[in-house]
Amino acid sequence: MTPAVKILTPKYDIADRAQAAGGVTRIDWADNEMPVLAKIRERFERERPLDGIRVGACLHVTTETANLMRTLIAGGAEVALCASNPLSTRDDVAAALVDRYDCGVFAIHGEDTDTYYRHIDAVCDIRPHVTMDDGADVISTLHSRRREQIPEIIGGTEETTTGVVRLKALERQGKLEYPIIAVNEAMTKHLFDNRYGTGQSTMDGIIRATNILIAGRTVAVIGYGWCGKGVAMRASGLGAHVIVCEVNPLRALEAVMDGFEVLTGVQAAARANVMISVTGNRDAVAGEMFDVMQDGVILCNAGHFDVEINKDDLSAITAEREEVRPLVERHRTNDGRRIHLLADGRLVNLSAAEGHPAAVMDMSFANQALAAEHLVKHGAGLDNRVYVVPEEIDAQIAALKLESLRVNIDTLTDVQRKYLDTWEQGT
Ligand code: ADE
Repeated sequence: MTPAVKILTPKYDIADRAQAAGGVTRIDWADNEMPVLAKIRERFERERPLDGIRVGACLHVTTETANLMRTLIAGGAEVALCASNPLSTRDDVAAALVDRYDCGVFAIHGEDTDTYYRHIDAVCDIRPHVTMDDGADVISTLHSRRREQIPEIIGGTEETTTGVVRLKALERQGKLEYPIIAVNEAMTKHLFDNRYGTGQSTMDGIIRATNILIAGRTVAVIGYGWCGKGVAMRASGLGAHVIVCEVNPLRALEAVMDGFEVLTGVQAAARANVMISVTGNRDAVAGEMFDVMQDGVILCNAGHFDVEINKDDLSAITAEREEVRPLVERHRTNDGRRIHLLADGRLVNLSAAEGHPAAVMDMSFANQALAAEHLVKHGAGLDNRVYVVPEEIDAQIAALKLESLRVNIDTLTDVQRKYLDTWEQGT
């Protein structure tokens, strides 16, 4: 499907176009750390695989995302981008994308909920052929309020664990109306972005917001998926005593054998100086946990949505609240304890810091660019299912990343390859 008509919609709604120059400098800085994506961009410029394709993207509006948008545009796509979180938008980046890179952007840092959804609608208004989500908000809008557009859509991609969980639920109910490539499921995505990206950027966000010393503190990490593993590893590396809470027995066991203390949420709440939720589920910090927390505890969330820390439960025991530093809200409880909530329970790494470093987003967004190309080439033959990224794409990205890091690896000899192909040979 290669429609010739360009849809005329307002091109942007951003805070301040005059900030573009600063945005360009920061986007270039990130680009230095994104060699795999740069290589794909060079090829896209030559081959134009996305010519005539409209991409509707809902991602964190960061320098790294800007380099992905540049790549899609280099490939011939017309692109509109909105934010996947109201606090993660960098207004200078939004300005640069509009002013210098011909990308439609609908995102303003700190936008309210109505504006957030109005911006999702603005992206849908370009009538995308390919959707690109981080949290499935565009896909969910198209599957509910804007179903008439679905026949125009070739497919979509999803960046994050939470989005993939939502989409698999849609697929299980037989209600998924177009094919999705779950970028999160690529090895070159979750093994690096979720683990090393979330690990580093979450600690970065906590430190930027509070300037506390991590060494010697007790840090509870709730959720031991790839993100939780990364956060626990980095908190431990900074000298914290790390407690892990996990509902999945296999993962809990893994945490025990990785050397962490494993406790229930309530037990951990009674001991922690810092609690970090990374579960992808609601109410990871809720109810009775608030009753037993220590005076001075710091709470934050590194999961996609702001449902992990139950703010209603916290408000119910709050006598007064005060912003004591930017992004740090102190709740004085009815019994006199101080509970500090960071970034209003939103993703702390993107609200208080700059999200994952560009070097990991390089691989995540290489997957996004190649998944979009794959959808354009092969989408017509795909079913309405949630697909993993094709293995060749994953392998290609790993090889390119190693090359960019100037790491050489050995290859199997013919004898070794043959050995792996046989079953007869034992001891
Ligand atoms: N998700 C996590 N970190 C990110 C970043 N730096 N840019 C875009 N999306 C992200």
